[in-house]
Amino acid sequence: MTNRRRCDTISPKITRGRKAAHVEYGALRQKQKTVKHEREAKIMQSFTMYAPTEIVFGGGAEEQLAAMVRKHGGSRVMLVYGGGSVVKSGLLPKLEELLSKEGIPSVAFGGVQPNPLLALAREGAVSAREFGADMIIGVGGGSAIDTAKAVAHGAANPEADIWQFWKAERPLTKSLPVGVVLTISAAGSETSSSAVITNQETGEKRGINTEFNRPRFALMNPELTFTLPKYQITCGIVDIIMHTLDRYFTQTGGNELTDEIAEALLRVVIRNGRKAASDPKDYGAMSELMWCGSVSHNGTTGLGRPMDFSVHQLGHELSGMFDIAHGASLSTMWGSWALYVCGENPERFARYADKVWGITGDTETAALAGIEKTVEYFRELDMPVCFSDSRIGVQPEAVAAELALRCSFHEKRLVGQFKKLDRNDLFSIYKLANR
Ligand code: NZQ
Ligand code: ZN
Repeated sequence: MTNRRRCDTISPKITRGRKAAHVEYGALRQKQKTVKHEREAKIMQSFTMYAPTEIVFGGGAEEQLAAMVRKHGGSRVMLVYGGGSVVKSGLLPKLEELLSKEGIPSVAFGGVQPNPLLALAREGAVSAREFGADMIIGVGGGSAIDTAKAVAHGAANPEADIWQFWKAERPLTKSLPVGVVLTISAAGSETSSSAVITNQETGEKRGINTEFNRPRFALMNPELTFTLPKYQITCGIVDIIMHTLDRYFTQTGGNELTDEIAEALLRVVIRNGRKAASDPKDYGAMSELMWCGSVSHNGTTGLGRPMDFSVHQLGHELSGMFDIAHGASLSTMWGSWALYVCGENPERFARYADKVWGITGDTETAALAGIEKTVEYFRELDMPVCFSDSRIGVQPEAVAAELALRCSFHEKRLVGQFKKLDRNDLFSIYKLANR
């Protein structure tokens, strides 16, 4: 094994982490009184729910492609795919044939890599315009789908550079419709309003949220995920868990239904994640993961409260700097984030421990045990929980400082809601993970 095993037993590390957490916890206890007062004053917030994607779920779902293209107004389509798994599995030629049989011209545009690149999306937009595509289909996972979304935005706005939308320098007012044939349960992009792209020239990995990102339809056949390597399945499990956790940790009270949906989803992913990691052809487990992947990120698990998403922001900087897989970046950061912020609302962490892991006890002990249990689960899946677990190894402190600076957008923003994190907070969290 490589440096992955430098951090091989979870308990001593977590014990050290717990000591650090107790320091933070004590320092924050006083502040907590104020925070608690604010929290008690809050109830479910007003929200708009818009999840328009038509989902076709189950064996053979991809065979509906031509019908769905027609139904949603497409007549010439571009199929955007990744590094070749869909060619190897025969899915891409099958889709091309299905379209051709129904008289729908298509062009395939491949080469999308995990942590998809802006340059390729720009190329795709030019090709889509040249072909005259009126619908873009992402065939694959988050990377292919997000590229399809970026291509759709670029093709519909030839006067703009795609990155201007990601940098909020230009409002997105129109796009082409996007459809999806999903092959991995993870990012939830098949129903989400997000798209995440990396600008390789600047090392920035950035997402945008817009209703133009919501796919018109998603064809979801769990059997298409049977060819996934274990590492991609476990990266996906972490991402699905994290889309709910990044919404669950909130200072807003009320929201009983949202809380209980989130807790149920987490229990289902944890249980079926174990099965899927040991048998990728377990249809039951793979179908549960696939459906959880969509529900976790279509908005349902965060209704009625602001979203936090700190761990995603912390992880995006790691992926932007080191090209780490998205799920791995999240498992690397979550435990350190949780230990750092736990003192802001230990009751929330204790509730999580109880409802998701069945851990009860006094608030502080349960809260920390819930964090420990989550980190242990990531390790059980062989996912990294600190820098030295992954190929990057322990980094000089200057790297943690640079990550914090970038994550704070050079001190132009605070990150998260559960605790609003400034550059110093972010630095402390990266330092906790840099072991
Ligand atoms: O590229 P190919 O050859 O297809 O291989 C892929 C890729 O190497 C492989 N794979 C996918 N389906 C397969 C398969 N291999 C064998 N059999 C199959 N059935 O898996 C690898 C990872 O694919 P990728 O699309 O990168 O995975 P994922 O769905 O995890 O997407 C990750 C990307 O989505 C972004 C992430 O930041 C990352 O860039 N996210 C997008 C979100 C959104 N749009 O809402 C939200 C997420 O939080 C996330 O940020
Ligand atoms: Zn994610």
